[in-house]
Amino acid sequence: MKNIIVGLLTVGILGLMGLTFMGGGAYHGGEHGKVIKDFGDTMTAAKTVTVTEKDDRKKEDDKLNALREKAGSAGAFKVSNEYKRKCASCHGANGSGMQNGKPMMGPKIFGQSAEKLYKDLVEFKSGRKENVVMKGLLIPMNDEDLKRFADEIGEFPARAEAAKQ
Ligand code: HEC
Repeated sequence: MKNIIVGLLTVGILGLMGLTFMGGGAYHGGEHGKVIKDFGDTMTAAKTVTVTEKDDRKKEDDKLNALREKAGSAGAFKVSNEYKRKCASCHGANGSGMQNGKPMMGPKIFGQSAEKLYKDLVEFKSGRKENVVMKGLLIPMNDEDLKRFADEIGEFPARAEAAKQ
């Protein structure tokens, strides 16, 4: 709700700024029709700006949440050496996809179900889901390996919970 109010205020303020700016031109040129059209354009531009701002804010929120998650639920817990060696460098030691508060190369995989993870891995390996990095990594693995990784990562939230006790 606060975001919406701030967004509306931004549109209003940018619009007024545009109007003032265009108004300056109107005194010299007196092209009122053009001013009104320009004002309309400014409003559209202001709205576009506000939408991108909202997206940025959402991204910031996501980042914050990821950080909180790292500090909270996705804290330290045991992972296999296999995961450490082959996945942690891009997805983080705990699958959060974050390191020192910064997003890593791979996205967050903590909290995804073993089924979803397995499906993604199969799709990367087959090339149905395109990603050169993941595909290259999975080529030498067999179905059992994929299942094992998916099952392990799927267990991360439970492990994190257990580690908190
Ligand atoms: C060199 C970096 C790198 C390594 C190492 C790596 N990944 Fe990834 N992984 C990525 C990138 C980049 C993506 C995003 C691909 C995309 O969505 O196009 C990804 C995506 C994924 C996804 C899909 C996540 C989602 O929500 O879409 C899964 C699951 C995954 N990786 C599992 C693994 C596992 C398991 C390992 C270890 C065996 C691993 N990754 C190792 C870079 C890496």
